[in-house]
Amino acid sequence: MKKAIEESFPIVEINRLAVPERNAFKPIYQMHKWFARRASCVFRAILLASMKPAGTNIMEEFYKDHTNDPDTNGVKILDPFMGGGTTVVEALRLGCHVTGIDLNPVAWFIVKTEVEPVDIDRLRDAFKRLEARKTHTGKSVKEELLSHYKTGCPCCGASSNIPLNKGGSRGLSSNNRSAKENADIIYTFWVKSAICTNPNCKREVTLFNNYIIAQKTPTIRYVSDYECTHCKKVFDMDIESASLIAEKTLTVYNSKDASGELRSHKRWALWDSMTHRAACPWCSHENVEAEAKSLKKAKKKVPLAVLLCPHCYAVWQYRGALPEEVSCPACKKDYSPNRGNVAEKGSFVCESCGTKDKIINSIRKLPQEQLLPTRPYAIEGYCPECAGETFEKNLFHEIIKSKRLTHSCMINKNNGKFFKRINPSDLKRYQDAEKRWEKEREMLPYPKQMVPVGEKTKSGLIAHHYLYWHQMFNPRQLLCLSTLLKAIDEEEDQLLKEMLLSAFQGTLEGNNVFAAYHRNRDCVGRIFARHDYQPKLTFLENNVWGNDIGSRTLLSCWKKILIAKEYCFKTTDSRINNHKIEDYYTGDNIYKIETNNFYQLHSKSSTDLSEYRDVYFDLVITDPPYAGNVNYSELADFFYVWLRLLLSKTYPPFSPELTPKIEEIIENPTRGKTVQDYEEGLTLVWKKCFEYLTDNGLMVFTFHHAEGSAWESLLESICNAGFIIESVYPIHAESEQSLHLMDKVSISYDLIHVCKKRNGVTNTKKRSWAGVRQEIRAKAREEIAMIEAGRYGSEKLLPADINIVLIGKCLELYSKHYGAIVDHNGDVVPLQNALVSIRMMVEQLIDTAHPLPSELEHIDPVSYVYLTCLCDRKEIQSDEVHKATRGILEIDGLIKAGVMRKGRAKRGRTYEVKQPDERYKDLQALFKKDARNPRQLKLFPDMEEERFDNVALVDIIHYLMGLANASENLMLWLNEFKQAIPQMRVALEYLKKRNPTFQIPIQKIVSLIEV
Ligand SMILES: C[S@@+](CC[C@H](N)C(=O)[O-])C[C@H]1O[C@@H](n2cnc3c(N)ncnc32)[C@H](O)[C@@H]1O
Ligand SMILES: [Zn+2]
Ligand SMILES: [Zn+2]
Ligand SMILES: [Zn+2]
Ligand SMILES: [Zn+2]
Ligand SMILES: [Zn+2]
Repeated sequence: MKKAIEESFPIVEINRLAVPERNAFKPIYQMHKWFARRASCVFRAILLASMKPAGTNIMEEFYKDHTNDPDTNGVKILDPFMGGGTTVVEALRLGCHVTGIDLNPVAWFIVKTEVEPVDIDRLRDAFKRLEARKTHTGKSVKEELLSHYKTGCPCCGASSNIPLNKGGSRGLSSNNRSAKENADIIYTFWVKSAICTNPNCKREVTLFNNYIIAQKTPTIRYVSDYECTHCKKVFDMDIESASLIAEKTLTVYNSKDASGELRSHKRWALWDSMTHRAACPWCSHENVEAEAKSLKKAKKKVPLAVLLCPHCYAVWQYRGALPEEVSCPACKKDYSPNRGNVAEKGSFVCESCGTKDKIINSIRKLPQEQLLPTRPYAIEGYCPECAGETFEKNLFHEIIKSKRLTHSCMINKNNGKFFKRINPSDLKRYQDAEKRWEKEREMLPYPKQMVPVGEKTKSGLIAHHYLYWHQMFNPRQLLCLSTLLKAIDEEEDQLLKEMLLSAFQGTLEGNNVFAAYHRNRDCVGRIFARHDYQPKLTFLENNVWGNDIGSRTLLSCWKKILIAKEYCFKTTDSRINNHKIEDYYTGDNIYKIETNNFYQLHSKSSTDLSEYRDVYFDLVITDPPYAGNVNYSELADFFYVWLRLLLSKTYPPFSPELTPKIEEIIENPTRGKTVQDYEEGLTLVWKKCFEYLTDNGLMVFTFHHAEGSAWESLLESICNAGFIIESVYPIHAESEQSLHLMDKVSISYDLIHVCKKRNGVTNTKKRSWAGVRQEIRAKAREEIAMIEAGRYGSEKLLPADINIVLIGKCLELYSKHYGAIVDHNGDVVPLQNALVSIRMMVEQLIDTAHPLPSELEHIDPVSYVYLTCLCDRKEIQSDEVHKATRGILEIDGLIKAGVMRKGRAKRGRTYEVKQPDERYKDLQALFKKDARNPRQLKLFPDMEEERFDNVALVDIIHYLMGLANASENLMLWLNEFKQAIPQMRVALEYLKKRNPTFQIPIQKIVSLIEV
């Protein structure tokens, strides 16, 4: 029986869900990073549509409870490239029996921790045990790790008897050495220095792009136009302080607009919450305002910037719009905050001798084992005292009690967070950790292996002298991470140990010297956001254990694990309804505690499935690697080298030093892996899938679709493995609006491919391409009618989507007779050629603006593009040519064919279309030569074939027009081109309509043909 996905797919609805219902809403997918994860809603829809009978409305099934659904329960599913486990998790929800395989042990570990049942109370206890576990210093792990990240609060850090400043706040000079260090460091900001490459200078040059540490525009409440009781003038009375630093003396105000956005020229003053006073900015009179009930509150936004002074390293604040030049309030020196020593990307300018050079050149001059020097330049800290609440928390750090403010304070509104300079005791604390690391490292677990040479590691790590994995962490991070890892290893229960290790894995992502500061969101940027290793000029050191504030700390990663494991027990999932998140009942939980949970996970290559000898899968649902797009194994090594320290003895896939590379299906020039290797690997896996799939089973997978040949080789590998491609559906996560804007140009899709076994069709009987093409056309027409009749729902598909769907349906016929379709010469028609022809056919069928007459259906690609897109213009934007040639031929092909040349205007972003007269000389030469060539005669009988050897129909037509314009003998040549006359005639008529300037020569030719 046919399944729903073989006929249709809710493209519009799923695309619409992909953005709001992204994985961020599903805690299970937030446990870990895996590269290029797919949207879970897409996979839920694929699964349902592959199991439900044809005709089912999948969107009606989407939010249903499938606990006792005979269509889904117990269905055997294989995902040979499971990655982060999207198929596995979604299939378990539907009660399927799922087998997930991934070559990469890190992926395997991620999916294992995602789906393995664990008792939540025992999990909480395990964390409690970890927290309290003693290190050799006698402190608990938690205390020990937090102690490395303490600092003095610049507001209340000293003993509490600091005199109040005028205005009520306690200002402390930031280098007060007697300060108590009770505040937690959230982040330490570091900068690298290059060494000037001028041999006479060799000075260290800090690599700052600019001196802006943070920029924010907090919203505060204020009373507008408050009238001074003394001088009767009005001012803005701010009732909350807008500040990112604690020291009043270190804030500079823009004289024009410091009051706030849209309050430009107003004077303002801060009302003190302790003394209830505000000093009038006109006459300094202290207005007392204890009861503000009668006053009208409003809100305003105040732009703030935290700046570093390159002269004295003060960390200070600018309130108001930031000017080009500023003057440091500490040392009074001027500088431009926007201009650092980094000249442009990758190069720096020495401030003392003016030498400009590439940063990489400075690294090359260093000994191999030496990294660029680094120094800390600022801290973002958190003071619970200044936050105004003493958090009393339960075990899970949820606040159960809070206290009111103890003092009035600049950073209270900022939740006790502040930026401050690095002072000597901060440096000392760091150096102490560094010393401890040197002393203790041999007793602690940390990765010792070298970074292997690879596509991503070569340029991202090795060229920058990161030769060992541990060099991606500074000594304090290494000390904390390895102390933590050792303590996790002491957990006796293996499963719980793995759950703790899972939180540790998340922590690695945010505690390394490749982490950057996300200035707008005040958090750690993701190290693998771009799927590569990118050394940072300024980086962010996190707090490994962490506190309530901060991201990617152990604490925050642990919370994620806990929430995710709880989610697995839930009988609901979340969805978006009317822009709101709400729960819907899914019946059974992921673990299938009540019914029969069933999954198997393997870390191995899917090119060998021999252990499933007696198993047949009903479905293969997967997402294969995409050529060289993501270097899974090279990136995963970053996590692997740490994980294996605890897992190598228990799990054989973790015993090698690094993740497997040889068996990886990928294109990777540095590791000598070619496109052919990639294709062969994929084909091998498809063949295995074929072997282990039931005869009427489906194989459905997603694959990226972009320009280039990766898609063609994928289709080839599918056909080679014995599959028929039944349907192709586009999936894109971009907003509908932007898709409409872009139309077809430069959208990249994910395509869902639906394949079934080519059963029974032996393909010994040859089929003529011309015949199959007729069938394909009929099929495409039928499909268009279906689309119009609403097969894909009441909502309209985008034109670009229709295009893809039609190509998919056309491919079915081609792949059914794969290997047996021959052209007029008896040669097998290669997939690439068939695809070009299918694309032109589909374009034509849905192009309502300039439909080509049916006689020109099998025209050559150059003439096709010329007639449909170029013939009525002199100049054309490159974007448009791009769009018109996509998948049909390369733009270069048009230039080589002589119908177009690069435009001179707009920096080459346009092309000029050559007119017949301009081509005349070249064509004369072409036809003179070819006329003498006997092969030329063979050319015309082939007219109905889509490929011409080297002459295009447009060449013939342009040549005739050239002859006509030059009043040469046309009859002679018309005779020569006799066989092509039917096509020529319609092409000429078509051209005449499209381009009136061709009227005269065309008329001449046509009148001769008529005779
Ligand atoms: C595109 S990813 C899958 C991502 C997954 N769909 C997700 O949402 O997280 C492809 C996976 O194929 C795996 N892979 C590469 N070569 C393999 C092989 N020979 N056998 C099994 N898995 C392999 C990679 O490790 C990678 O995790
Ligand atoms: Zn404080
Ligand atoms: Zn006044
Ligand atoms: Zn200064
Ligand atoms: Zn210099
Ligand atoms: Zn304070």
